Amino acid sequence: MVKAVVLGAAGGIGQPLSLLLKINPLITELGLYDIVNTPGVAADLSHIATPAKVAGYLPPDDGLKKVLTGAELVVIPAGVPRKPGMTRDQLFSINAGIVKSLATGIAEYAPKAFVLVISNPVNSTVPIVAEVFKKYEGVYDPKRIFGVTTLDVIRASTFVAESNGTPGASADVVVPVVGGHSGVTIVPLLSQSSPALETPSGETPDAFTSRVAALVKRIQFGGDEVVKAKDGAGSATLSMAYAGAEFASKLLRAINGEKGIVTPSFVALPDGGKALAEELKTLAVQANYNEELATLEYFSSNITLGPQGVDKIHPIGKVSDEEAKLVVAAVPELATNITTGVTYIAEAE
Ligand code: NAI
Repeated sequence: MVKAVVLGAAGGIGQPLSLLLKINPLITELGLYDIVNTPGVAADLSHIATPAKVAGYLPPDDGLKKVLTGAELVVIPAGVPRKPGMTRDQLFSINAGIVKSLATGIAEYAPKAFVLVISNPVNSTVPIVAEVFKKYEGVYDPKRIFGVTTLDVIRASTFVAESNGTPGASADVVVPVVGGHSGVTIVPLLSQSSPALETPSGETPDAFTSRVAALVKRIQFGGDEVVKAKDGAGSATLSMAYAGAEFASKLLRAINGEKGIVTPSFVALPDGGKALAEELKTLAVQANYNEELATLEYFSSNITLGPQGVDKIHPIGKVSDEEAKLVVAAVPELATNITTGVTYIAEAE
């Protein structure tokens, strides 16, 4: 018996995500919350013959309290998407406020829930949720808060499969994506792709290197392709809904006792980032990088999911020299993004 809740359920991501959660057999109750339209979305979904009982809530009459009460899994796609010409700061200031208010509701009404953060910028909104939770006694548990980076992972699988000439096999391609969830902080580890990125006979090492570089760039900035093609109508919604539902499904399976489920996610590091800092030192040597690197308290890497949420955080592992450079280059921006989130809550006092 699992109650799942979508906060921002009437939006571009929220609606298809709610549909995909409605058809997940592991969910028995689905609560939909938004500032608009959730009664309609809920009525529509309620006609689908799957076990999940669905209900929609709006802010009046304690809607947030009602939807969150009893929730075990809360997914947050609430907020504004990126539009052409919008700066990151503009996006941050709107979404930070929304995520803060929703995190406050979760801390009060669903303090033991697993929280899946989709609202951007994920590198900052995950620390915001954590900092809000820390203000409530016994609520903060780093094992239960996840930044959903699955869309980067899905894009990596799709683009690598296409590049291998096997587009139909993208679901079988596994590429770890580490770092964070914006631009250069997204670091796909193509050298660890399984199956490997193929080198067609006749391809020179230089041509292979530039194909890898182009793939990395496409994965890092895949979101821009969609923003541009939608031409002012928003950012990725359908692929993001699929990605969010995929992550939720993996977590639900792990909560139900399935072992060995590994997927990347942007999470707080339980040791405060010490193990990562050691690994980054080695990568900095590999990358010939001589500057001092900040210690990161949050990072996206492969994690094993378990009944309590994060069971194990995997090291980055062996990477190519180019990838070492990308990981190291991501650190300053990640550090700034994380601090921005933490400071936002500290200053909101
Ligand atoms: P949208 O504008 O279509 O939907 C957002 C929804 O949030 C709207 O229905 C709105 O009414 C609702 N909302 C606003 N304030 C709220 C509040 N206080 N409480 C509850 N609901 C509230 O936007 P879209 O395209 O669905 O994107 C949502 C977020 O997801 C954006 O921040 C976007 O940047 C992010 N995103 C994240 C991705 C990822 O990979 N993690 C990928 C794509 C988008």
